[in-house]
Formats: sequence, C-alpha cells, structure tokens
Amino acid sequence: MAATTLTAVGETDPLAPVAHSSERADQAAESADEAANAIAKNAAEPEPVVTPPWTLDDARELYLIPRWGSGYFDIDANGHMVVSPEGPRGPKIPIADVIQEARQEGLHTPILVRFQDILRHRVKKLNTAFEAAIEENKFRGKYRGVFPIKVNQLREVVEEILEAGRSSHYGIEVGSKPEMFAALSIHSDIDSLIVCNGYKDDSYIRTALIGRKLGKKIILIAEKLSEVRTIVRIAKEMNVDPLIGLRCRLVSKGAGKWATSAGEHAKFGLTTSEMLQAIDILAAANMQASFKLLHFHIGSQVPDIQIIKRAVREAARHYAKLRKMGQPIEYLDVGGGLAIDYDGSRSTFHSSMNYSLEEYARDIVYNIGDVCDEEKVPHPDVISESGRAIVAHHSVLIVETFGSIEKVGVSLADIDKAKEHKLVQELAYVEEQLKPENLGECWNDLLAVKEEAQKRFEVGALDLQVKARVEELFWGIARRMVQMAERVEDIELPDSLQDLKPQIADQFICNFSVFQSLLDHWALGALFPVVPIQRLHERPTTESTIVDITCDSDGKISKFIDLEDTRDTLLLHPFDGKPYYLGIFLTGAYQDIMGDIHNLFGRVNEVHVFLDDDEECGYYVEETIQGNSIREVLAMTQWDTHDLVAKVKAQVDAAIKQDKLKPTEGMRLIAEYERGLKEQTYLNFDAARMNEQQKASERNVADVIRPSDPPPKP
Ligand SMILES: Cc1ncc(COP(=O)(O)O)c(C=O)c1O
Repeated sequence: MAATTLTAVGETDPLAPVAHSSERADQAAESADEAANAIAKNAAEPEPVVTPPWTLDDARELYLIPRWGSGYFDIDANGHMVVSPEGPRGPKIPIADVIQEARQEGLHTPILVRFQDILRHRVKKLNTAFEAAIEENKFRGKYRGVFPIKVNQLREVVEEILEAGRSSHYGIEVGSKPEMFAALSIHSDIDSLIVCNGYKDDSYIRTALIGRKLGKKIILIAEKLSEVRTIVRIAKEMNVDPLIGLRCRLVSKGAGKWATSAGEHAKFGLTTSEMLQAIDILAAANMQASFKLLHFHIGSQVPDIQIIKRAVREAARHYAKLRKMGQPIEYLDVGGGLAIDYDGSRSTFHSSMNYSLEEYARDIVYNIGDVCDEEKVPHPDVISESGRAIVAHHSVLIVETFGSIEKVGVSLADIDKAKEHKLVQELAYVEEQLKPENLGECWNDLLAVKEEAQKRFEVGALDLQVKARVEELFWGIARRMVQMAERVEDIELPDSLQDLKPQIADQFICNFSVFQSLLDHWALGALFPVVPIQRLHERPTTESTIVDITCDSDGKISKFIDLEDTRDTLLLHPFDGKPYYLGIFLTGAYQDIMGDIHNLFGRVNEVHVFLDDDEECGYYVEETIQGNSIREVLAMTQWDTHDLVAKVKAQVDAAIKQDKLKPTEGMRLIAEYERGLKEQTYLNFDAARMNEQQKASERNVADVIRPSDPPPKP
C-alpha cells in the first residue's frame, strides 16, 4: 500500500480535495475494466515487488497527518508525534515526553492531554477570520462569537477560551440550567454576550434575568411560543428588561449526522406563524424593544458549504423582513455547524468538510450583507456558536496497547500432507492453486472446506485436532489471499473476503473505554484519526483493529479515516510486548464530556500542557487531574464505600470464625480490598511489569554468576 501511495504524493497536491465513495460510483465500471486488464497482465508476467525504505513522509501519508492536522500535528526526526499548538512554525511538543512526565507524576494511561495553547489559537483564528471577512465585505455589523459550553464544559477550557477571546468580546452560549449557572459566574466582560438556548423553566429564566440585573447582555432565546409568555411574566415580576431572541425553524436542513437539528420537523424553533404570534405577545406586554436576536442552528458538523450558505440566506431573509416590520433586531445568530475535517478528505463526507474556516466566515458575512442590501435594512451584528471548531484539536487521548489477539494461521508448507485428513489435503490443493487471477474461485473452495469441517464436527464425525488444523489453515490461506490482493495493483477482493479483512486483522487490546472516551464513534460512527505516538520511523506492518477493555463487543474502533471512504483496519507496528501508545486525535469536542461509565470505567486522567519559553523543553504541565477512583464511580451508582467495606469485613470475620482464614490474613485481605477501592478504574500493569523486570534482572544476575566452565577442582 505504501508503494502505491508514495507514487501519488509526487504527482498530486497532497492536500487536494478527494471524492468520497458516494461521489465515485461512476468511476467504478472503468476501474473494473482496468483491474481485469491488470490481472491478465500480472498473470502473464508477475512483476517483482520492490519495497522502498520507509520514510517519515510515508508515515505522514499513511496516517493522513497533514490532511487532518491543520498544522498542529506532525512527526519529528525521532519518529514521534509532536504538537505545534501555535501552528506549524511554532514550538513543538513531543507527546511521548508529556506522557513520560505524567507517568513520573503517577498518572497512568488512558490520559487525556489538553494543549491549552491550541484553544487560544483556535479562538483567535475564528475571530480574525470573521473580522477579516467583515472588513473585506465592508459589512457594517460586528462579529460577536459565543462558545457553546456544552461542547466542552471543563472550567479550565472555558476560562482559557474566554481569556483568549477577550479582545474580541467573545462570549458564551448555554443550553441548560446548569450551564447557565456556570456561565453567569464566569462571565466578566460586559460587552460580550451570554446566549441562552435550550428549553427553559421559571428558574432558568429567573437566573438569566439575575444576569440582566447585573447589566449583562444575556439573551434568552425562545425555543417555543410558551417560553415567550413565561419570559414576559417573569421579567415583569422581577422588574427587569429582558433581551429576547427567537429561534427560527428554517426549511433549510443541515447534512451529515446532525441534520435533524433543523428543517420543518425539527425539535426546536418557531415556525413563521409562531414568530408572528411571539411578536404580538411582546407587543401586548409592551416589550417590543426586547426582541433583539434571530437565531438558527442547522446541526453540528455541516460538511457542505452550500448548505450553510442556503440556510444563512434563508435566515437573513427572515431577519430583513422582520426589520422591515419594525422589529428592533440587532443580532443574527447563525448557530453552530462549522465542521472539522476529521479524515482530511476536504469532501462532503460526514467526517469532513469542503470549506475552510475562513471561507465559512466570508460566506456568512457576504450572504447576510447581500440579503440585507437587497432588502435595504441595516446589517446586524453576527453571532456564531462554533464549538467543535474551537475545541476539537486541543485534546488527544492516549491509550496503551497491552496485548494483541491474532488469528493464528499456519502454512501447508510446514506439514506433511500425506498424513493429513482429507479436508486438510483439500486445503492443500486450494493453496497450491492460489494465484491473483483465481482468488475468487480459491476463496469459494476455501469456504466450502471450512463449512464441510463444521458440519462434520457438529455430527461428531471430526475430532478436535482436525478441526483445529482446518481452522488454522483456513486463516493462514485467507491471510495470504488478502496479502496477495494487496501486492497486485488494482486487483479486487471477492466481497466476502473483503468483509473478512477486519477479522483477519490483529486486534490491539487497549486500556480504555470507547463508551467513556469516544462516544460518538460508538453511537454515530463518527471517525477520529488514530496514530501511534512513537515508532513512526518504522514501517507498520500489522493490519489491526482496536478493542477496549469493556465487556462489550461494541467496545472497539473498527472504522478508520481514509481519503476515499473509510478503512476497516489500521496499519500498526507489530506488538512486541513493550508499551505501545496510540493517540486518538481531535477528541476535544463533545467526547470527554459525554462519556458514560459503562462497566464503571470512569473519567480518565488528564494533563494540561502550556507552552513556556522559560522552560528548557519549551512547555510545562500546568495541571494534572486524577481520573475517577473505583470508590467514586461506585458512589455514583449508590454503593457506599463504608458499607462495602463493612460487608466484606463481616464475611472475613465469619471466615475467621469458621477457621477458613487466620485473623492476620483476614486483616490483610480487608486492607487490600480497602486499598483497591482507592485505585483508578482502568487496568494498571505496573505490578505485573515490576514483577517481569525483577525476574529479568534475577535471570541476568544468574547468568553472570553461572560460570561457563566448571570451576577448577580444589
Ligand atoms: C444551538 C447550538 N448551538 C451551537 C452548537 C455547536 O455546534 P458546533 O459544535 O457544530 O459548532 C450546537 C450543537 O449542536 C447547538 O445545538
């Protein structure tokens, strides 16, 4: 595979957009003809396969780092993943060094590493893009971005973002009561906004209006008509002027995994007639002046800029018509949706985007301005609620592989065929016939033998040894078929063998939970780049999938990013028993905040990294946050630690009374149980490793003192 992709690099722009599978159907027939010709050619004159030496550029290309990395991620000369929080020309931090430091502080993987300077860089990038677009288009409104804290509510993250955006009066968006309470306390820039989305009760509205009393620009967005009435009632009770926005239910729909957030049947927003009724309610309460904002949100991760443009024009038209009716609206809020190019394909695939952040800002500003000019109404201030685009890059989840499950496959070359069972001999025949041009036929024969073996076993006509032999040979031959297909260019694997590829792949067992740390992958099939953080100067040769430690077959990563579609396997380095760390990138948005405690695996350890010129290494770890302990997650599910210990103690006491345990041993067991409750929820291999190391050093000592020659006789 590397050989094929290498040729492509020199010939084409490595960052050019790529057509995803959905866009490639018409190329398929052509490719099939070419493949047939290639097979015929290869059969006639097999070409020797020359594998060029592995380079760092090969690694960059295999893992698509320059495509999704946005200049924040690269590989250094040692083959380590590095992070450049201020972009490609800024200082670089090797991730493995951060992990090493965290381990010295006693933190184990899984570790979530937050690069706080990336947050700052993203906030600046977004604000600069809108400011530039405003200048370029001679737009007469301002940009007043808000960070939707549901995308990552961690206090340090929100503080960093607000601090970085202070000069642009960057504000906060909240979508629930608890978020409202957090926002009210942290908000300090009187010129920045707090935008309140989500369904609201009296207490939500009252809390927001406390903010109004404090002089904050806090805008309550009505998601439904009844909320307008409630806001009016409570504002009168509290004797305060509310700032009110209406969420407009656009006909334009989003695209991708969150498309149902908008459109006529969306769960949120007011129809045109409801908006007119809302205006009447405000007029009747003499609160017309409170209608300050028009809002829409067509869903997160909108991959196609055309969809965004259409929605913006539709919303701008609503704004203009309402202004013409005399409504005093000052802000047009375009919601979230600014996407992240998780797979780097620059396409309209759900995990990608066919536009840049700057293009997004330009298109929003231009289209709002254009509609307003057509309608001859003032330009509004523009709000965007971009969450994913601000936080996705800043955190990397590091997980450790601690084992691999391989499908053992033997070759017939290793066995004496004449002595083998008839089914084994049939497999020998299939292997002898194996050529690129008859892969399909051989695959059918191979399946037939496996099925026959299974049938015979079920009726008791096959012993375990033959069954085992057939299975080993089956996997061995299947693996060779896949390898053969990969070596010969343009050959097509039979569909059912293609489906088998992930099963032939090794499963790398990693110490983490998909349900806690990568929920969107499990729930929605969202894709995240996965890259080993070391050994990138070595050629990865093992087709792999990743499994977590939950007792759930869904707890795995078996879809990976690819330019043209998705991959079922990822090439990794052969697992040699030494710590092998994988980085799961672009996980800063939604993932760590939405995780659940399936199997009672809790929050993971965290480290927060800051750049600092004064440090020799150029950075420092500002904070380490311990993940959940076992007793913490048990407490979340109503297991009281004292009660647990008391009950185990009672059982130990009973065992002592029955002479099953000695008292000292019983006390030791209770102490161990109590100690265990304080440990973290993920696996910890330190004890096992120390044991191994000790054994190894004992072996070395024994080797040194064991003389090779017998000692001289006295
Ligand atoms: C109302 C609202 N605003 C903003 C966002 C953030 O969207 P994104 O992360 O795509 O920027 C969301 C998320 O779905 C949302 O529901």
